[in-house]
Amino acid sequence: MYVAPSILSADFGRLDEEVRAICDAGCDLVHVDVMDGHFVPNMTIGPVVVSAVAKAASKPLDIHLMVQNNNFFVDLFAPLKPKFLSFHIEEEKHPHRLIQKIRDFGISPGIVLNPHTPPETIEFILNEIDLVLIMSVNPGFGGQSFIPSSLEKIRRLREMIDKKGAKVLIEVDGGINGLNVREVEEAGVDIVVAGNYVFSSHDYAHAIASLRV
Ligand code: DX5
Ligand code: ZN
Repeated sequence: MYVAPSILSADFGRLDEEVRAICDAGCDLVHVDVMDGHFVPNMTIGPVVVSAVAKAASKPLDIHLMVQNNNFFVDLFAPLKPKFLSFHIEEEKHPHRLIQKIRDFGISPGIVLNPHTPPETIEFILNEIDLVLIMSVNPGFGGQSFIPSSLEKIRRLREMIDKKGAKVLIEVDGGINGLNVREVEEAGVDIVVAGNYVFSSHDYAHAIASLRV
């Protein structure tokens, strides 16, 4: 299991220090939530701050766009060279085209599914992407509870991926903690995002290790 702490729950007054701390504590990716106040009822950070995060991070960035104008935001964030750049399928009329654009930047494209979105929506573009991010809470805020129907969705997606022989990682985002991580792993998840669970802990290394099931 790969672990991607979400810096949404970090202390933004000490962001540089927090990013260094999770990297030193052994995380695999640094999950960055970009919110525009339109697609979700919250706003976070733009490329100026994310480039400071990239500088502080000794691990690759995993950027999760929660925005209305994906094309515009891909142009803003692609120059920061994240490992993954993921956008919501609910907000994209031409996902196939956007995937190619992200790949042309040399970045691994990912697609995000909101809690109501069935995995079958992306069946015919599965072979084009490197990552599917399953939202297990409503996007916009950290510290919410895991939505149980996400487990069935992960299982169905796992089956679809295995049947197609696609090389796609499954990531889950929202309400993940040391108690439910085994369940999501058994359902077929490769990467867990955890915000509140990691950053509210007094020992980041211990919290990250406890998610590696
Ligand atoms: C929510 C974000 C998540 C969030 C997860 O919109 O996409 O990455 O930070 O936070 P926790 O792990 O606290 O649910
Ligand atoms: Zn996220």
